[in-house]
Amino acid sequence: MAEAALARVPLVQVPASAPTDPFIKWVGGKRKLLPQLEPLMPPGVKRRRHVEPFVGGGAFFFARAPRNALLCDVNPALVATYEAVRDELDAVISGLAALARRHGKEAYYGVRERYNAARTGTKSVSKASQAAMFIYLNKTCFNGLHRVNRKGEFNVPMGRYKNPRILDEERLIMASAALQSAEIQCQGFEGLLRSAKPGDFIYLDPPYEPVSRTASFTSYSKDGFSQEDQTRLRDVFAALDQRGCKLMLSNSDVPFIRELYADWNIHVVHAARAVNSDASGRGKVPEVVVTSY
Ligand SMILES: C[S@@+](CC[C@H](N)C(=O)[O-])C[C@H]1O[C@@H](n2cnc3c(N)ncnc32)[C@H](O)[C@@H]1O
Repeated sequence: MAEAALARVPLVQVPASAPTDPFIKWVGGKRKLLPQLEPLMPPGVKRRRHVEPFVGGGAFFFARAPRNALLCDVNPALVATYEAVRDELDAVISGLAALARRHGKEAYYGVRERYNAARTGTKSVSKASQAAMFIYLNKTCFNGLHRVNRKGEFNVPMGRYKNPRILDEERLIMASAALQSAEIQCQGFEGLLRSAKPGDFIYLDPPYEPVSRTASFTSYSKDGFSQEDQTRLRDVFAALDQRGCKLMLSNSDVPFIRELYADWNIHVVHAARAVNSDASGRGKVPEVVVTSY
């Protein structure tokens, strides 16, 4: 076979879609909460399109591997990584394998610099290479955090892992399989007003309202998520309920959130998660799940 033709043959055969785990770590990831969320899904959920406007690490989506999905997030690097894992898996895997072979302190900061040059447009780098760098940094940075400075540059230091699993090929193949049936969009949650259809199952997992004023874990992006944002989200929730969508929303169990969603059903679930950096904030934390049905 000619070399050019060989280059087009995918090295990895993507299998049929099946439930799997996220391929990145993400703050607020829902993997551990799934056994409590799944019983709260609406009737006939298998027939419905699965929509997530705050997809993050996508724990719910990957656990369900639905036949039809719309995934959105406001983080452009995250969205581009999903697209690359869906459409250019071979290139992502070979890029990540090369980064994994060279991993070390000097390499980490070198990749971070190249990644930022690519993200800020200083240097042109392919989407698959950017995705490989995104996954590499996610696996090796401090706590899998995604934090950017005012200029949009990723500035998380290297984590202290002895032997981080940088390339998990099997997980990426399963993720790519699940993503084959997904449309992916980079947009703020208000974009749902354009794209949601009657009958959709929409799982909303926004940055949480802080439990106390010192908690600072709502700053996912450089803009953060304010009480005004929470109120605008409630208005979108109400509009989509009117449209006939089936909505399910997670947030912290605080009076402000309970008041916003007083017109709908409020369930309580318990997350085993550290909410503060001090030991007193650890343990089971109550959260609300609001359903429109
Ligand atoms: C709690 S995390 C979602 C976690 C996800 N459910 C998981 O399992 O990993 C919140 C996500 O909302 C995104 N986000 C923040 N503000 C947003 C906005 N205005 N519109 C859409 N997404 C937003 C963040 O980038 C982040 O990925």
